[in-house]
Amino acid sequence: MKIAFVGCGYVFDIYMRTRWAHEELDIRGVYDIDTARSAVVARHYSFHVYPSLQALLADGDVEAVINLTSIRSHDEVTRAALEAGKHVYSEKPFTTDFARTQALFDLARERGLVLSGAPSNLYCDAIATMWKAVRDGAIGRPVLVYAEMDDNPAHLMQLEKVQSPTGAPFPYAEEFQEGCTVEHVSYHLVWLCAMFGPALKVTAFSSQLVPHKTATPLNPADTPDFSVACLHFANGVAARITCTWVSPRDHQMRIIGEAGEITVDNAFHDQAAVHLERFSRVGLAARKAYTLRTQPLFGRLFGIGGRRLPLVRRWKSHAVEVEKGVGHSLKHRFVSWLRRREIYAQDKLLGIAEMARALQQGRPQPMSPDFHMHLNELSLLIQRAGREGASFTPSTRFAPLSPPELAGEQADYLRRYRPGPFERAAAGLVEALHRR
Ligand SMILES: NC(=O)c1ccc[n+]([C@@H]2O[C@H](COP(=O)([O-])OP(=O)(O)OC[C@H]3O[C@@H](n4cnc5c(N)ncnc54)[C@H](O)[C@@H]3O)[C@@H](O)[C@H]2O)c1
Repeated sequence: MKIAFVGCGYVFDIYMRTRWAHEELDIRGVYDIDTARSAVVARHYSFHVYPSLQALLADGDVEAVINLTSIRSHDEVTRAALEAGKHVYSEKPFTTDFARTQALFDLARERGLVLSGAPSNLYCDAIATMWKAVRDGAIGRPVLVYAEMDDNPAHLMQLEKVQSPTGAPFPYAEEFQEGCTVEHVSYHLVWLCAMFGPALKVTAFSSQLVPHKTATPLNPADTPDFSVACLHFANGVAARITCTWVSPRDHQMRIIGEAGEITVDNAFHDQAAVHLERFSRVGLAARKAYTLRTQPLFGRLFGIGGRRLPLVRRWKSHAVEVEKGVGHSLKHRFVSWLRRREIYAQDKLLGIAEMARALQQGRPQPMSPDFHMHLNELSLLIQRAGREGASFTPSTRFAPLSPPELAGEQADYLRRYRPGPFERAAAGLVEALHRR
């Protein structure tokens, strides 16, 4: 698919990290309202620069526009691209106004065009692994989810100094104004809604806890930096999602079932570690012991935290395993390897690749417009719940999503699970302690 990027800021460089793995995406050029920025990017990646948005939209070769502009420009750029007859892939949120988002999807439908967007972590190996483990029955009937999206105390993080590899400053002012919920809650929502369907009821609370995170004047200055939402899904699952910019980083999700628990370490990491614990009386009772609870090495011997699952493979799993074009020095390669291993690895082009694949095969998009509308509605409502709290019944629904296509046969996670020898041997001891 022939694509062109509008907006070449901080996130653009993250998109470029996995470009080498998506040869089917033919990048025809870029445009940014900040011409200095598009010039830097064009030079660095050898891209053609369009002199204006109109010139880009007038290029008959461009089939899809990738909208990576600031959130406040999303609506106008997406609308212009659809009106010019282009498919659009937009960064999240499509807009911060539910009616405007709906109007964009209506426009796309009228014109017979695809409108899709981030986050692309729906297609990553970590969620595909969790989803398969749930479907394999590895935790029995899922009943409860705890999802954390804590992004550190932002006021201490010196975000003013953060830059992308080609020098785009991290847009901390926009992030504070838009809010941590609108910026980040969809990383968890996309997984939850894909696995469990639409949320039928939501109860939420949001508040600003740390004002004056920066000396830069903000408008608005009081966007919530904390939100918590409880969601009730049609299949009976309840979920609690927390988003903050005040609590130390934690991007974990736990799915608890009647017979076990699946934990994923980091919703920002496409190949995050996924653990499965099948509940046993040993593991559950062992949690009462301080040392076993607080020393993971000892706790795991008794089954606490379970076993790490081998991740499933998907058609583009390799994209985040190697990084090319980051520089050839030993230092560059070491830093890149360390970041992918320890911090995060995301293939942000994957959503565009999935969109192109569905278009090429003439099948519906994996994330339907109704699905996107649901995520948009939930994100906005949770962020705006306020200090009094709010309960709402979302107006949007969507048909269930198909589980991800896997590359070849994968092991059955329920059948292959075995408690460790120590856990089995310790059963008598823990039972004895339990009775005292
Ligand atoms: N920063 C991140 O880590 C991150 C991660 C995931 C998603 N996102 C999302 O990506 C989008 C962009 O974020 P960013 O961090 O790159 O922001 P940014 O401010 O660094 O970049 C946005 C770019 O868009 C350009 N722009 C704004 N209006 C435009 C217009 N009308 N036409 C053309 N160019 C225009 C700006 O000049 C700027 O270069 C946002 O929707 C954000 O939520 C950001």
